[in-house]
Amino acid sequence: MTMVTICVGSSCHIHGSEEIIDRLDAAIRANKKEDEIIPVGGFCFEKCNRHGVTVQVDDDVYTGITPETFDTFFKEKILPRA
Ligand code: FES
Repeated sequence: MTMVTICVGSSCHIHGSEEIIDRLDAAIRANKKEDEIIPVGGFCFEKCNRHGVTVQVDDDVYTGITPETFDTFFKEKILPRA
């Protein structure tokens, strides 16, 4: 089971947390990983970025995730752990 925490702190919220959450939900459903990938919201990781959203996958924190980079991020960093 993999925990994916999307930052919904102020900076990440402004930079698109909600769209990243929607994309994560859709990707989990498309890959039928509902029992293996658990999406949660989290507060500021103190890694605010001028672009994109901070996302923690288990213990690893990634910054600057945007709708444009999300699909690659999901395939490379989330799916292999599920
Ligand atoms: S608001 Fe997301 S890391 Fe600060």
